[in-house]
Amino acid sequence: MLRSIVIVGFLVLNVAVLCNGGSTSSFVRKEEKTEDMPLDSDVFAVPPGHNAPQQVHIIQGDLEGKAVIVSWVTMDEKGSNQVRYWSEKDKSKPKVSNGKVVTYKYHTYKSGYIHHCTIKKLEHNTKYYYEVGTGKSARQFWFMTPPEVGPDVPYTFGVMGDLGQTYDSNATLTHYENSPSKGEAVLYVGDLSYADNHPNHDNVRWDTWGRFSERVVAYQPWIWTTGNHELDFAPEIGENIPFKPFTHRYHVPYKASNSTQPFWYSIKRASAYVIVLSSYSAYGTYTPQYQWLLEELPKVNRSETPWLIVLVHSPWYNSNQYHYMEAETMRVMFEPWLVENKVDVVFAGHVHAYERSERISNIAYNILNKNCTPVRDQSAPVYINIGDGGNVEGLAINMTEPQPDYSAHREASFGHAIFDIKNKTHARYSWHRNQDGYAVEADSMWFYNRFWHPLDDSTTKKASQ
Ligand SMILES: *[C@@H]1O[C@H](CO)[C@@H](O)[C@H](O)[C@H]1NC(C)=O
Ligand SMILES: *[C@@H]1O[C@H](CO)[C@@H](O)[C@H](O)[C@H]1NC(C)=O
Ligand SMILES: *[C@@H]1O[C@H](CO)[C@@H](O)[C@H](O)[C@H]1NC(C)=O
Ligand SMILES: *[C@@H]1O[C@H](CO)[C@@H](O)[C@H](O)[C@H]1NC(C)=O
Ligand SMILES: *[C@@H]1O[C@H](CO)[C@@H](O)[C@H](O)[C@H]1NC(C)=O
Ligand SMILES: [Fe+2]
Repeated sequence: MLRSIVIVGFLVLNVAVLCNGGSTSSFVRKEEKTEDMPLDSDVFAVPPGHNAPQQVHIIQGDLEGKAVIVSWVTMDEKGSNQVRYWSEKDKSKPKVSNGKVVTYKYHTYKSGYIHHCTIKKLEHNTKYYYEVGTGKSARQFWFMTPPEVGPDVPYTFGVMGDLGQTYDSNATLTHYENSPSKGEAVLYVGDLSYADNHPNHDNVRWDTWGRFSERVVAYQPWIWTTGNHELDFAPEIGENIPFKPFTHRYHVPYKASNSTQPFWYSIKRASAYVIVLSSYSAYGTYTPQYQWLLEELPKVNRSETPWLIVLVHSPWYNSNQYHYMEAETMRVMFEPWLVENKVDVVFAGHVHAYERSERISNIAYNILNKNCTPVRDQSAPVYINIGDGGNVEGLAINMTEPQPDYSAHREASFGHAIFDIKNKTHARYSWHRNQDGYAVEADSMWFYNRFWHPLDDSTTKKASQ
């Protein structure tokens, strides 16, 4: 059955290549109701024991990967702030680091005690065990620090967005966990819990999301981007501070890259330089984000980090009717800089479907000259839309027709992607849909590094017009 679908898909694909340059997959996902998993689901189970730490998650804690921020929540009382940790190489010498605790209120909801603790001076490329909580309620996890930043360091990123907490979200996470590619960290393009789809933004759904995602996020860092579902801006119920639940729960190392807000920042990890942007913070000329990015791009040294990756929630290029052109003003502001600096790839979410563009730019326009059509441009990034994590709002199935020339491949199915850096010239990119076996690549591409190996890596022919 599946095989025949794939064969039909291949034929359609060939025809599409002749017409438009890109292909729209003919894979039709079974129509089923998308709903959040019930509160008593196994994935939301509270760990046993008095005040047991829950919602454990980690993220890189500095610019280069020698620090980790460990976060967790205790519900019964404040409890211990300590993280005990030791390297696999030296089990006999556990170290201790003390964190901070925050709480917040949202409408009638009152959060648990949210702990954040940065552990520093870690060795690169080392397995560390860590423990939070005390006595019988103590819980142990582990992580690998990344190799030292350098040009030829292979590294495998998972890419995910718009995950939410439905049965589909669980399938996406399971597929990522079981991927033979073994992602070492996740580039997360925003929209985490979708708590705001529940009455009064029921923040209990932030807690359930924290428990659901723990099985991966406690063991490897997810590099957070903020989406519209992190805003939780609801003046009608007295909640006027944007990003309140997100900023209390998820910390990012924004100060290390001299950012003034946790919504835009950068990190170096192995051979990658990752720049995170915020679609929902000001980006016009003179604004803090604009000024930061202006100063940030010249700091990227491709001899040190060959791969330049940008994460942003709302996509600058996609060809779905849903959210179409929503990010146009941000594209106008920043796209010229990304082309000048030869960014390799931009990952975005927001649109609940999968799409990969060709290398294109649309930066010639200046109001007078009418040059306002995207053109193939080998200095430009590839734009990948990976907002198909599987949240409660369902799939975005309405594509614009005909498929624009800039769109290389598109399909409305849930899944995740892998960006597998092999060396400073080559990276293997693949997209994995939830209906397939774990090893199946439903879309893929060899990325040639824009700085070190800027050969044409397009996957479709340019339309003839
Ligand atoms: C979520 O997926 C895991 C497998 O990774 C499974 O054990 C669990 O039962 C699933 N939970 C729900 C509610 O579907
Ligand atoms: C941040 O700013 C300080 C002070 O200007 C400077 O010394 C430091 O190098 C900057 N760090 C980065 C990562 O740009
Ligand atoms: C860029 O990185 C390389 C390799 O680490 C280093 O030798 C060089 O000095 C750096 N260039 C600048 C301008 O910092
Ligand atoms: C999608 O297309 C269908 C059929 O043309 C239409 O009824 C529906 O309103 C569209 N939905 C969106 C979100 O554009
Ligand atoms: C880089 O990786 C690619 C893909 O694995 C390989 O073909 C190429 O030979 C590698 N380059 C070097 C210099 O090893
Ligand atoms: Fe979104």
